[in-house]
Amino acid sequence: MTNTLDDIQARESRFVLQTYRRQPVAFVRGEGTRLYDVDGREYLDFISGIGVASLGHAHPGLAAVIAEQARTLLHTSNLYFHPFQADAAGRLSALSGLARAFFCNSGTEANEACLKFARRYWHTQGVKGRTGFVAVQHAFAGRTIGALSVTFDEHYRAPFTPLLEPVTFVDPASPDSLFAAVTDRTAAIIAEPIRGEGGIRPLPRAFSDAIVDVCRQTGTLLIADEVQTGLGRTGAAFHSHTLGWRPDLISVGKALGSGVPVGAALVSERVAAAVSPGDHGSTYGGNLLATRAAAFFLEQLTDHGLMDHVKTVGAHFERQLRTLALKHPVIVETRGAGLMRGVELRIDATPVIDQARAHGLLVNRTSETVVRLLPPLTVEASEIDRAVEILDGVLATIGAEVHA
Ligand SMILES: Cc1ncc(COP(=O)(O)O)c(C=O)c1O
Repeated sequence: MTNTLDDIQARESRFVLQTYRRQPVAFVRGEGTRLYDVDGREYLDFISGIGVASLGHAHPGLAAVIAEQARTLLHTSNLYFHPFQADAAGRLSALSGLARAFFCNSGTEANEACLKFARRYWHTQGVKGRTGFVAVQHAFAGRTIGALSVTFDEHYRAPFTPLLEPVTFVDPASPDSLFAAVTDRTAAIIAEPIRGEGGIRPLPRAFSDAIVDVCRQTGTLLIADEVQTGLGRTGAAFHSHTLGWRPDLISVGKALGSGVPVGAALVSERVAAAVSPGDHGSTYGGNLLATRAAAFFLEQLTDHGLMDHVKTVGAHFERQLRTLALKHPVIVETRGAGLMRGVELRIDATPVIDQARAHGLLVNRTSETVVRLLPPLTVEASEIDRAVEILDGVLATIGAEVHA
């Protein structure tokens, strides 16, 4: 069995369920912000497995703790105690101000858990009809049925209806629509502080403030979906905190394990008090490997200066992208915070993604016209300069074609 790209593609097309449209490249090795394909070609990775490889690839410290854990004990299930759930949960609690963590294996499961815990809260209060959710247009919360139900894009939803009900999507351009949508049937509002898959779209300030007001006025729970924005990505532990939100529930995933699959639902004391043993669970959730990796990542984030690093290089990134936007009329605008950036184009972003890859830069397309950049949190300013230089060249070529 050989491992050329052609062989891998042929084997996949025969045996793997075709749910993904992959780009024609296969990676076998990584180091920091670099990835290497089957032919040994080097790429600058500015998508980091969609915001996952937070410590970069093959981080020596993470590799050491994972290897040590693999040699010692990987999994025992939630039938028993082990030391690392409490380590990771304690760190998450210190960062979030929320009392407790429930561990799962992905972002969608973290949201699924938050939706369940929100309903559980009202059920425990004896308020039986408060089961609905209010979500935001262009939101993406994941692919399981609950998370899909609060995901906006019809393309993802339509083949799988009926979904969870009632869910109302509100237009963030209209804070009034939020006040109208939240009723005495609403269990929770779920919102990403910056919509990620939806095109790196921050929420308008007035809408963000309306979320805080309506929750305060109605007692509605707030679920901050920080799967993409959270844990340092925007230069803050939680982007929702920078907006003044005080969520009762926060979902996290992606960066948490820096490549080891782990997610978590973080819950306030009052929601935690409503949850009983047996209400929710996961065989893998919070196993020794996953929570050891998570604890290691969180330690790097807070005790080893990673968050400060993101603030510094994130500001540099913003300046570089703004300069790029001034140069290229094909750019509508650049958006985002920290190391979560989107460049909205006047054209479909696909050729830019393809040409960037041909020049050794990995980025991805979201919301059709947006080039999304999510480098590892460890990225260096010089690597940002190189990535922007590659994009500059690609946009010059494509921009010339657009105007020809
Ligand atoms: C904001 C947000 N929530 C939830 C998810 C789902 O996470 P996962 O793909 O790990 O299930 C994603 C994934 O992109 C996301 O961006």
